[in-house]
Amino acid sequence: MGYSVRTIASDEIEAFLRLAIDIRLQSGLRGSPIYAPFSSDEPPRGPSPERIGELRERLAVPTSEGNWFRGFFLVHGRTPVGELTLNGGRLHSERHRGTIGMGLLEGHRGKGLGEQLLSTGIAWAHADPNVEWLDLGVFGGNDRALRLYTRLGFVETGRVVDRFRVDGRKITDIQMSLRLRG
Ligand SMILES: CC(C)(COP(=O)(O)OP(=O)(O)OC[C@H]1O[C@@H](n2cnc3c(N)ncnc32)[C@H](O)[C@@H]1OP(=O)(O)O)[C@@H](O)C(=O)NCCC(=O)NCCS
Repeated sequence: MGYSVRTIASDEIEAFLRLAIDIRLQSGLRGSPIYAPFSSDEPPRGPSPERIGELRERLAVPTSEGNWFRGFFLVHGRTPVGELTLNGGRLHSERHRGTIGMGLLEGHRGKGLGEQLLSTGIAWAHADPNVEWLDLGVFGGNDRALRLYTRLGFVETGRVVDRFRVDGRKITDIQMSLRLRG
């Protein structure tokens, strides 16, 4: 079964949120670095109708307006096994920037698929004249993610020590940005 990357459609928002929860639940387990800002005693709530409705609406917001949402699935056969999201800046004054988040289910990591997914997201942003910068945050210790982002051109812009405390561990949040134009 092959892998491919495709956009998340409006009627797939719930499936996307469920996948994101499954990926979050694997953070810090079985040798994985911590990549989610939640401790093990904070179980995720399932996707609420409000959250699904909000993301559906934001999928239709043009990138010229800010607070838009776009997403991509990495699919294995027909099954989504990874996701990448882009969120437009909320304020009018930050609508030239998008924030990226991504994750793959455990069994699909370490094969170059993250690079395939991220390069699709970057190419989408490159093709949109309204998106001039991409930003993301990555936890110190998530070396594979850091290598991937650096390989695709993201540059560290700062770090916040002790930004999160997850199961008693102090997490440094590293901010990275990619300039697309301007
Ligand atoms: C971080 C994450 C998205 C990276 O995706 P990935 O597919 O695992 O990573 P890559 O695309 O960089 O590939 C990983 C490795 O596979 C190697 N690889 C194997 N086969 C490959 C192929 N055919 N083509 C390219 N690379 C290949 C790469 O060299 C790379 O090596 P490296 O990690 O030593 O640099 C993924 O591991 C993940 O989802 N982790 C958990 C969630 C997470 O951390 N999300 C990010 C939060 S900021």
